[in-house]
Amino acid sequence: MPEGGYYSSKKTDDICENVCGQASRMGVAISRILCILRGFDLKALLFLFMGIPLFFLGIYMHGQKITYFLRPLWDSPPKPFNIIPHYYHENVPMESLCKLHGWGIRETPRRVFDAVLFNNEVDVLSIRWKELYPFVSEFVLLESNSTFTGRIKPLFFAMNRDEFKFAESKLTYGVVGGRFVKGENPFVEESYQRVALDQLIKIARITNDDLLIMSDVDEIPSGHTIDLLRWCDKIPDKLHLQLRNYLYSFEFYLDDDSWRASVHRYKHGKTRYAHFRQTDDLLADSGWHCSFCFRYLSEFAFKMKAYSHVDRVRFPFYLKPSRIQDVICRGADLFDMLPEEYTFQKIIAKLGPIPSIYSAVHLPRYLLQNVEKFKYLLPGNCQRETG
Ligand SMILES: *[C@@H]1O[C@H](CO)[C@@H](O)[C@H](O)[C@H]1NC(C)=O
Repeated sequence: MPEGGYYSSKKTDDICENVCGQASRMGVAISRILCILRGFDLKALLFLFMGIPLFFLGIYMHGQKITYFLRPLWDSPPKPFNIIPHYYHENVPMESLCKLHGWGIRETPRRVFDAVLFNNEVDVLSIRWKELYPFVSEFVLLESNSTFTGRIKPLFFAMNRDEFKFAESKLTYGVVGGRFVKGENPFVEESYQRVALDQLIKIARITNDDLLIMSDVDEIPSGHTIDLLRWCDKIPDKLHLQLRNYLYSFEFYLDDDSWRASVHRYKHGKTRYAHFRQTDDLLADSGWHCSFCFRYLSEFAFKMKAYSHVDRVRFPFYLKPSRIQDVICRGADLFDMLPEEYTFQKIIAKLGPIPSIYSAVHLPRYLLQNVEKFKYLLPGNCQRETG
């Protein structure tokens, strides 16, 4: 419409003249309002009644994005890690591998304890335990009938225990009852469960200088990394593991910034099970962190509601299965958030969906031995079952 502005305002005048002249048939109130508005031009009106509400709606829907985008202004990055180069090839003997890291080799390997809090990641747990089985002396698993957000949940491990028969002889399993406190910060229930896990590790008879892996189920150290750490003598007392970050499956490789998993030489009275930063040392390229790597769409919604970042589910439609499926296939963000980065350069580099990769090289062994079963975790298979 050429010269739209002029045309529109003229039309406004016409309407007003008509109405003001003969207000007999229309409601008196409406005609009054229209007469009051007579002096405004239509563009200004549109701005007032559409533009301003849209602006606030925009802030409401995307306010979090704005604050995240401005993070470099209000937040400073954590102290960088001291990254330890990691050497590995399957045909290099252990003695040489230890030496490459500046360590010597032991006469016998340390015992290894792998302790996790279990939620509902059944498939990822089996991939994890099969990967670590040859190197682990004791698997310690604790589950609760409460999610971190205080919702009742089934004991998913107990329900699927048959799938884990292979690990039964190495398993210390515990259940802790939820506290079910309403309206509490989810991090309180989480730390309560971690204290219970600390007890269970003692029940599993850990002793000084045994290795203890502290990580979430979906933070999977590679088997050769744990083998190296159990055989070499002078490894650090505490060591974080740098893991490759994936989202939804091994098709969406995000970055190498996962560091929460850690390995400790256990010390009675000192070592506490934790999932925060405990030291500056970080061993490079030590495994995989596969977040939201679920088979069923329902599991995505469950996890979104159940765990510590429940506040990120700002709108109920985030939980719709069709939306979740669409987000997975695009490699987009389930919570519609921006990357948590500390420089504009990194934020901008990571804007938009994660590109697909086509490599399935150096993935957990059990995954590649069972590609039919775990197809949905491999590149090119983003469709999930609804179940
Ligand atoms: C949760 O588990 C604990 C311990 O097994 C039990 O005592 C409690 O009744 C359970 N709570 C609910 C709501 O099922």
